Amino acid sequence: MSPPRIAVLASGRGSNLQALLDAIAAGTLAAEVVGVFSDRPQAPALLRVPEARRWSAKPSAFTDRDAYEQALGDAIAAARPDWIVCAGYMRILGAALIARFAGRMLNIHPSLLPRHRGLRTHAAALDAGDAEHGCSVHFVIPELDAGSVVAQARLAIAPNDTAESLAGRVLALEHRLLPAVLALACNGRLAERGGTALLDGQPMFTPLTLDSFDRLMP
Ligand code: GRF
Repeated sequence: MSPPRIAVLASGRGSNLQALLDAIAAGTLAAEVVGVFSDRPQAPALLRVPEARRWSAKPSAFTDRDAYEQALGDAIAAARPDWIVCAGYMRILGAALIARFAGRMLNIHPSLLPRHRGLRTHAAALDAGDAEHGCSVHFVIPELDAGSVVAQARLAIAPNDTAESLAGRVLALEHRLLPAVLALACNGRLAERGGTALLDGQPMFTPLTLDSFDRLMP
Protein backbone atom coordinates (compact mmCIF):
# COMPACT_ATOMS: atom_id res chain seq x y z
CA MET A 1 0.00 0.00 0.00
CA SER A 2 1.34 3.45 -0.83
CA PRO A 3 1.94 5.78 2.12
CA PRO A 4 -0.44 8.62 3.01
CA ARG A 5 0.09 11.69 0.88
CA ILE A 6 0.84 15.12 2.37
CA ALA A 7 0.65 18.46 0.56
CA VAL A 8 2.43 21.40 2.20
CA LEU A 9 1.64 25.09 1.70
CA ALA A 10 4.58 27.36 2.53
CA SER A 11 5.60 30.93 1.80
CA GLY A 12 9.07 31.12 3.32
CA ARG A 13 12.07 29.13 4.43
CA GLY A 14 10.18 25.86 5.02
CA SER A 15 11.86 24.61 8.18
CA ASN A 16 8.60 22.97 9.27
CA LEU A 17 8.37 21.28 5.88
CA GLN A 18 11.94 20.09 6.47
CA ALA A 19 10.93 18.68 9.85
CA LEU A 20 8.29 16.58 8.06
CA LEU A 21 10.80 15.44 5.43
CA ASP A 22 13.31 14.56 8.16
CA ALA A 23 10.71 12.55 10.08
CA ILE A 24 9.84 10.66 6.90
CA ALA A 25 13.52 9.95 6.27
CA ALA A 26 13.98 8.82 9.89
CA GLY A 27 11.03 6.44 9.64
CA THR A 28 8.97 8.15 12.34
CA LEU A 29 6.41 9.46 9.84
CA ALA A 30 5.15 6.95 7.28
CA ALA A 31 4.05 9.39 4.60
CA GLU A 32 5.09 11.09 1.41
CA VAL A 33 5.25 14.83 0.70
CA VAL A 34 3.59 14.85 -2.71
CA GLY A 35 3.70 18.57 -3.31
CA VAL A 36 4.82 21.93 -1.96
CA PHE A 37 2.63 24.87 -2.91
CA SER A 38 3.65 28.47 -2.56
CA ASP A 39 2.40 31.98 -3.24
CA ARG A 40 6.04 33.06 -3.53
CA PRO A 41 7.95 31.52 -6.45
CA GLN A 42 11.24 32.44 -4.69
CA ALA A 43 10.32 30.71 -1.42
CA PRO A 44 13.27 28.62 -0.19
CA ALA A 45 10.73 26.02 0.97
CA LEU A 46 10.18 24.97 -2.65
CA LEU A 47 13.81 23.92 -3.00
CA ARG A 48 13.42 21.29 -0.30
CA VAL A 49 11.54 18.95 -2.66
CA PRO A 50 12.27 17.78 -6.22
CA GLU A 51 11.15 20.13 -8.99
CA ALA A 52 8.30 17.86 -10.05
CA ARG A 53 6.71 18.39 -6.66
CA ARG A 54 6.82 22.18 -6.65
CA TRP A 55 3.97 24.50 -7.53
CA SER A 56 4.06 28.24 -7.16
CA ALA A 57 2.20 31.21 -8.54
CA LYS A 58 2.06 34.88 -7.62
CA PRO A 59 -1.47 35.83 -6.58
CA SER A 60 -0.96 39.16 -8.40
CA ALA A 61 -0.81 37.27 -11.70
CA PHE A 62 -4.50 36.33 -11.34
CA THR A 63 -7.57 38.49 -11.88
CA ASP A 64 -8.63 38.14 -8.24
CA ARG A 65 -8.19 36.06 -5.12
CA ASP A 66 -10.86 33.57 -6.18
CA ALA A 67 -9.05 32.86 -9.44
CA TYR A 68 -5.75 32.38 -7.61
CA GLU A 69 -7.29 30.05 -5.05
CA GLN A 70 -9.10 28.07 -7.76
CA ALA A 71 -5.72 27.45 -9.43
CA LEU A 72 -4.05 26.66 -6.10
CA GLY A 73 -6.87 24.30 -5.14
CA ASP A 74 -6.75 22.55 -8.51
CA ALA A 75 -3.00 22.06 -8.15
CA ILE A 76 -3.38 20.67 -4.64
CA ALA A 77 -6.21 18.37 -5.72
CA ALA A 78 -4.11 17.10 -8.65
CA ALA A 79 -1.51 15.88 -6.14
CA ARG A 80 -4.26 13.77 -4.47
CA PRO A 81 -3.20 14.52 -0.89
CA ASP A 82 -4.74 12.85 2.14
CA TRP A 83 -3.63 15.76 4.34
CA ILE A 84 -2.88 19.38 3.56
CA VAL A 85 -0.54 21.22 5.92
CA CYS A 86 -0.12 24.99 6.09
CA ALA A 87 3.41 25.44 7.39
CA GLY A 88 4.29 29.11 7.24
CA TYR A 89 1.83 29.88 4.44
CA MET A 90 1.43 33.61 4.91
CA ARG A 91 -1.83 34.30 3.09
CA ILE A 92 -5.29 34.02 4.56
CA LEU A 93 -7.14 31.23 2.77
CA GLY A 94 -10.65 31.78 1.41
CA ALA A 95 -13.69 29.78 2.45
CA ALA A 96 -14.10 28.07 -0.94
CA LEU A 97 -10.56 26.67 -0.90
CA ILE A 98 -10.87 25.53 2.71
CA ALA A 99 -14.20 23.84 1.93
CA ARG A 100 -12.55 21.78 -0.82
CA PHE A 101 -10.25 20.19 1.75
CA ALA A 102 -12.45 20.41 4.83
CA GLY A 103 -11.38 18.21 7.71
CA ARG A 104 -8.03 17.43 6.06
CA MET A 105 -6.27 20.77 6.39
CA LEU A 106 -3.99 21.58 9.34
CA ASN A 107 -2.03 24.71 10.24
CA ILE A 108 0.87 25.26 12.60
CA HIS A 109 0.70 28.54 14.46
CA PRO A 110 3.37 29.98 16.78
CA SER A 111 1.26 30.65 19.86
CA LEU A 112 -0.84 28.85 22.44
CA LEU A 113 -4.19 29.36 20.71
CA PRO A 114 -6.64 30.89 21.38
CA ARG A 115 -4.06 33.37 22.60
CA HIS A 116 -2.39 35.54 19.95
CA ARG A 117 -3.96 34.78 16.61
CA GLY A 118 -2.44 36.40 13.53
CA LEU A 119 1.08 37.79 13.14
CA ARG A 120 3.85 38.85 15.58
CA THR A 121 2.80 36.32 18.19
CA HIS A 122 6.14 36.31 20.06
CA ALA A 123 6.07 40.06 20.70
CA ALA A 124 2.39 39.76 21.62
CA ALA A 125 3.12 37.10 24.25
CA LEU A 126 5.84 39.32 25.77
CA ASP A 127 3.67 42.46 25.66
CA ALA A 128 0.85 40.59 27.38
CA GLY A 129 3.22 39.48 30.18
CA ASP A 130 2.43 35.81 29.50
CA ALA A 131 4.23 33.25 31.67
CA GLU A 132 4.01 30.63 28.91
CA HIS A 133 4.17 30.57 25.14
CA GLY A 134 4.40 27.90 22.48
CA CYS A 135 2.79 26.58 19.33
CA SER A 136 -0.43 24.95 18.22
CA VAL A 137 -1.51 22.66 15.40
CA HIS A 138 -5.15 23.15 14.48
CA PHE A 139 -7.67 22.34 11.79
CA VAL A 140 -8.12 25.16 9.30
CA ILE A 141 -11.49 26.90 9.12
CA PRO A 142 -12.31 30.20 7.39
CA GLU A 143 -11.88 32.20 10.60
CA LEU A 144 -8.16 32.93 11.02
CA ASP A 145 -6.29 30.67 13.49
CA ALA A 146 -9.64 29.66 15.02
CA GLY A 147 -10.13 25.98 14.08
CA SER A 148 -10.14 23.24 16.68
CA VAL A 149 -6.72 22.75 18.23
CA VAL A 150 -5.23 19.26 17.97
CA ALA A 151 -1.95 19.67 19.84
CA GLN A 152 0.19 22.24 21.60
CA ALA A 153 3.75 22.45 22.84
CA ARG A 154 4.60 25.00 25.51
CA LEU A 155 7.57 26.65 27.17
CA ALA A 156 8.07 29.01 30.10
CA ILE A 157 8.95 32.56 29.09
CA ALA A 158 12.22 33.58 30.74
CA PRO A 159 12.86 37.12 32.06
CA ASN A 160 15.51 37.73 29.40
CA ASP A 161 13.48 36.38 26.46
CA THR A 162 13.04 38.63 23.43
CA ALA A 163 10.72 38.15 20.47
CA GLU A 164 13.73 36.71 18.60
CA SER A 165 14.75 34.27 21.32
CA LEU A 166 11.15 33.14 21.69
CA ALA A 167 10.83 32.67 17.93
CA GLY A 168 13.82 30.31 17.98
CA ARG A 169 12.71 28.36 21.01
CA VAL A 170 9.13 28.02 19.75
CA LEU A 171 10.35 26.96 16.31
CA ALA A 172 12.26 24.06 17.87
CA LEU A 173 8.97 22.95 19.46
CA GLU A 174 7.14 23.34 16.14
CA HIS A 175 9.63 20.97 14.53
CA ARG A 176 8.72 18.30 17.10
CA LEU A 177 4.99 18.92 17.24
CA LEU A 178 4.14 19.01 13.54
CA PRO A 179 5.58 15.60 12.56
CA ALA A 180 3.99 14.04 15.67
CA VAL A 181 0.55 15.33 14.68
CA LEU A 182 1.02 14.22 11.09
CA ALA A 183 2.01 10.73 12.25
CA LEU A 184 -1.33 10.47 14.06
CA ALA A 185 -3.20 11.90 11.11
CA CYS A 186 -1.51 9.56 8.66
CA ASN A 187 -2.39 6.61 10.88
CA GLY A 188 -6.05 7.51 10.41
CA ARG A 189 -6.48 8.49 14.05
CA LEU A 190 -7.31 12.16 13.58
CA ALA A 191 -10.47 13.68 12.14
CA GLU A 192 -12.72 16.68 12.44
CA ARG A 193 -16.50 16.66 12.58
CA GLY A 194 -18.71 19.67 13.10
CA GLY A 195 -15.83 21.86 14.17
CA THR A 196 -14.50 19.42 16.77
CA ALA A 197 -11.22 17.53 16.52
CA LEU A 198 -11.58 13.79 17.03
CA LEU A 199 -8.89 11.38 18.16
CA ASP A 200 -9.72 7.72 17.53
CA GLY A 201 -13.31 8.83 16.90
CA GLN A 202 -13.67 10.60 20.26
CA PRO A 203 -13.92 14.38 20.71
CA MET A 204 -10.72 15.95 22.03
CA PHE A 205 -11.59 18.22 24.92
CA THR A 206 -8.01 19.35 25.50
CA PRO A 207 -5.19 19.57 22.96
CA LEU A 208 -2.54 16.86 22.93
CA THR A 209 0.87 17.74 24.35
CA LEU A 210 4.32 16.54 23.30
CA ASP A 211 4.25 14.14 26.26
CA SER A 212 0.98 12.58 25.18
CA PHE A 213 2.47 11.50 21.86
CA ASP A 214 4.86 9.13 23.65
CA ARG A 215 1.83 7.40 25.12
CA LEU A 216 -0.18 7.47 21.87
CA MET A 217 2.59 6.36 19.50
CA PRO A 218 4.67 3.88 21.49
C1 GRF B 1 6.56 29.19 11.73
O1 GRF B 1 6.84 29.84 12.94
C2 GRF B 1 5.09 28.91 11.63
O2 GRF B 1 4.51 28.57 12.83
C3 GRF B 1 4.59 30.25 11.17
O3 GRF B 1 5.52 30.67 10.23
C4 GRF B 1 6.78 30.10 10.54
C5 GRF B 1 7.22 29.35 9.33
O4 GRF B 1 8.53 28.88 9.43
N1 GRF B 1 3.24 30.15 10.68
P1 GRF B 1 9.12 27.86 8.36
O5 GRF B 1 8.85 28.45 6.99
O6 GRF B 1 8.44 26.54 8.53
O7 GRF B 1 10.57 27.79 8.65
